[in-house]
Amino acid sequence: MKDNIEQVLLDKETIQKRVQELGQDIDLYFEGKEIIIITLLDGAIIFTADLIRNMNIPLRLDCLRVSSYGNSTNPETAPRILSSLKTEVTGKHVLIVDDILDTGNTLQSVTQEVLSENPASVHTCVFLDKPDRRENGFSANWSGFSIPNEFVVGYGLDYAGKFRQLPYVGTLKPSVYK
Ligand code: IMP
Ligand code: MG
Repeated sequence: MKDNIEQVLLDKETIQKRVQELGQDIDLYFEGKEIIIITLLDGAIIFTADLIRNMNIPLRLDCLRVSSYGNSTNPETAPRILSSLKTEVTGKHVLIVDDILDTGNTLQSVTQEVLSENPASVHTCVFLDKPDRRENGFSANWSGFSIPNEFVVGYGLDYAGKFRQLPYVGTLKPSVYK
């Protein structure tokens, strides 16, 4: 696994420290409220698992399967929402959590979808942000790290379904893409 990594951008300790801060920030923001966290599968599961263990406010967890990348590093034009929510979000405070904010298309369409159910509020939290790639001016309410326009794997992020289990974030050697 490690042999395929070109460069580590964020190590395990740096990630854990930042995720702890994010959990505390979000907790403080929603103090006295109850929220529904919608995590976007598959990429955001690792981040969400660590994030919610750094939070104390009452919350419920729901998942949406969204597909924007196939077995490539290029996004398809429109993200597809491939599942539905089990929770009623009408009148509730919703926090959508994703692994990375890239073009912004995924979070924009999921946010719109959730808004159509008339929640009390919708906020977004992403582990990574690639601002250079944005196509729609979307910005997240909370973001772990801003990174340059490079394809990264680890901490939930995959290339062709692999490398999600790495506890750090890094770039892949060019040989992996061949
Ligand atoms: P967006 O719709 O372009 O913002 O894309 C967001 C989705 O693309 C994320 O949820 C990821 O699944 C995927 N993605 C974007 N950049 C990367 C990357 O560098 N590595 C792995 N997946 C990525
Ligand atoms: Mg994803």
